Amino acid sequence: MPNIRFRINGVDTDIDADPDSSLLTILRGQLGMTGSHFGCGAGECGACNVIVGDHAVTACETPLWSVANKDVTTVEGLGSAQKPHSLQRAFIAEQALQCGYCVSGILMSAAALLKRNPNPTGADVKAALDRNLCRCGSHNRIVRAVLRAAAEMQAQ
Ligand code: FES
Ligand code: FES
Repeated sequence: MPNIRFRINGVDTDIDADPDSSLLTILRGQLGMTGSHFGCGAGECGACNVIVGDHAVTACETPLWSVANKDVTTVEGLGSAQKPHSLQRAFIAEQALQCGYCVSGILMSAAALLKRNPNPTGADVKAALDRNLCRCGSHNRIVRAVLRAAAEMQAQ
């Protein structure tokens, strides 16, 4: 098997695997990072979203070969229980989830947005999250949480 090297949450990582494997399979399997969720498996729901470079991508549809030598950030790299990211604090403050299945992917889409646009409007947030589905209907609280996090990050 070819060896593919990339950086995952800032750590250089070598993976021996079929280069056509999906990034999500590698994350949840070999790397044991189960924060990125399998929803549709077809690029439609965003539950598996991770950040590659500055943009959120669906890990279920991203082949391993395509991230060679790139920076990949997963929800495990966003924050921790001890040191949560502003987005994670804001999601708790706004109670912006119900079952939580969609949330790791939504956090990554939102984090990518805030990297590119630190001061988004509500319309910007809705556009950035357009490809993230939430079957629990938490959308309004999710948008409020992203705007709250942006304001907190601007104030820092
Ligand atoms: S599981 Fe990847 S987009 Fe749905
Ligand atoms: S909180 Fe349940 S799918 Fe979004």
